[in-house]
Amino acid sequence: MNLQGKVAIVTGSGSKRGIGRAIALCLAEKGADIVVADMNLEGAKEVAKEVEALGRKALAVVANVTEPGSVQQMVDETLKAFGKVDILVNNAGITQPITTLDMTLEDFERIIKVNLTGTFLCSKAVMKPMMEKKYGRIINISSVSGKRGGGVYGGSHYSAAKAGVLGFAKALAREVVEHGITVNSVAPGLIATDIRVGLPMEKEKAIWETIPMKRPGTAMEIAETVAFLASDGAAYITGEDIDVNGGSHMD
Ligand SMILES: NC(=O)c1ccc[n+]([C@@H]2O[C@H](COP(=O)([O-])OP(=O)(O)OC[C@H]3O[C@@H](n4cnc5c(N)ncnc54)[C@H](O)[C@@H]3O)[C@@H](O)[C@H]2O)c1
Repeated sequence: MNLQGKVAIVTGSGSKRGIGRAIALCLAEKGADIVVADMNLEGAKEVAKEVEALGRKALAVVANVTEPGSVQQMVDETLKAFGKVDILVNNAGITQPITTLDMTLEDFERIIKVNLTGTFLCSKAVMKPMMEKKYGRIINISSVSGKRGGGVYGGSHYSAAKAGVLGFAKALAREVVEHGITVNSVAPGLIATDIRVGLPMEKEKAIWETIPMKRPGTAMEIAETVAFLASDGAAYITGEDIDVNGGSHMD
């Protein structure tokens, strides 16, 4: 998995224990220069330092994936610093454990906006630069919730958004295949990050028991799958989604 000379934007990669940070570091370990994009600029700067410590170039940018202007600025800054964008990882996401009956329209729209609309806006913004180079890898972070229905930490809005990401990726994959761009998704199961803090340990352990591997996944286990999809080894894979969930859902 040699990503030497590649430039990757990873959205939502400023979280200390997050999947995005692990993806940024994993792609950097394999040779890519990284744009660490997050709403949390301080967090992004910290991760950018870690990328640089691995001997790669890094740029921390503040970006809100729900705002078209902010997304465009993220891509413009990337092009200014590196001249191209080879890899986009649509990782920024939020969840909310809530039943549909308790859910407000605002709740529903907020979750759709960050997880699904954000994926659309960021993908659209990198399409032209990728088409010009006739090369691109777009990788979305979906969720087991989008396939199985009902996550532990997310409501029906989160499942709808993450299922939407999978459909969006397949349609986009068909559109851009002639331009040398692949579009794939990774669907994590339960991963040990801050998105799920707050649950009592006995409840957490009860969830582990439902997973065939009897443990949560690590952020790095998601990152390694993303790195594979970004690599030349995955050149003939597009419109696919890969489950990384310890066996908690198989299809
Ligand atoms: N942790 C899990 O169990 C799990 C399971 C399945 C899928 N996922 C998905 O993995 C991705 C990463 O989640 P995580 O667990 O690392 O969570 P996290 O909360 O640690 O990280 C999410 C990051 O996204 C950023 N972010 C939120 N809204 C944003 C916006 N509008 N624009 C830009 N950045 C924004 C946050 O600042 C944060 O840094 C998400 O898409 C999540 O839905 C997580």
